[in-house]
Amino acid sequence: MTTDQQQALVIGASGGIGSAVIRHLLEEQQFHSVLGISRAATAPPDLAQQPGLRWLTCDGSPSAIKASGEQIASEVPQLSHVVICSGILHDTEHGPEKSLEQLDADWMQTVLQANAITPLLWLQAIAGKLARKQDCRIAVLSARVGSITDNQLGGWYSYRASKAALNMLLKTAAVELARRAPGSKLIAFHPGTTDTPLSQPFQARVPADKLFSADFVASRLLSVMDQARADGTLAYLDWDNKPIDW
Ligand SMILES: NC(=O)c1ccc[n+]([C@@H]2O[C@H](COP(=O)([O-])OP(=O)(O)OC[C@H]3O[C@@H](n4cnc5c(N)ncnc54)[C@H](OP(=O)(O)O)[C@@H]3O)[C@@H](O)[C@H]2O)c1
Repeated sequence: MTTDQQQALVIGASGGIGSAVIRHLLEEQQFHSVLGISRAATAPPDLAQQPGLRWLTCDGSPSAIKASGEQIASEVPQLSHVVICSGILHDTEHGPEKSLEQLDADWMQTVLQANAITPLLWLQAIAGKLARKQDCRIAVLSARVGSITDNQLGGWYSYRASKAALNMLLKTAAVELARRAPGSKLIAFHPGTTDTPLSQPFQARVPADKLFSADFVASRLLSVMDQARADGTLAYLDWDNKPIDW
């Protein structure tokens, strides 16, 4: 059961996982209000009719993220759930690198910016909203390939490095939040391979039972968030609520 006090913010709101999270918050968890933030001007058609959804467009530049943070501060009384679902793996010209020869400095910077720096700028933008005594669960979509311990296969240089960097940035933020917003809990979440545009070109070899729907992942993510307790640390958890080695 949710209350008027519980307000959710979903960043990367038009993405496969982001839009499924919004649907679950409104339909299953019956949130009265969810603020979706996206680079897109309008919500996807299946979300546009949801009465509790407010849509905020932000181009993702540092100055626009700062301005959005000010708007959130003035419009949202209290945040209880924040889900940062943005990220990239490929675009029309670039994919994950298989060898050193494929490294491209500009693309590496693009991936690091989108997957590590931008999520932290969002955390910076909402930090002032994280009241000392109020519970707020903050999940950021990471990936198991960001685990240095787990890296036995190699490849995917930029994406792996961006998620490892994201994890370190979040770990550092968790230390700070333990002091200034002890009711907050940070989670770096691995969704498993999920059927979205991000994984689409890489799904051919994924067994059917290992390719999750975005709806399934959204319900697992919200369940993981509900079970999390503020303890001043960053949790690195998969869709099954199992911890991942760093
Ligand atoms: N799908 C998987 O198998 C899988 C596995 C492990 C981890 N993840 C992680 O889960 C998260 C969500 O991915 P998804 O599967 O839902 O992918 P998706 O459908 O491609 O959604 C990703 C969203 O990120 C935002 N985005 C795209 N490019 C961006 C950029 N350059 N800068 C900032 N934001 C950008 C866009 O949202 P807006 O247009 O609304 O801004 C986009 O819709 C990502 O962080 C991804 O790394 C996914």
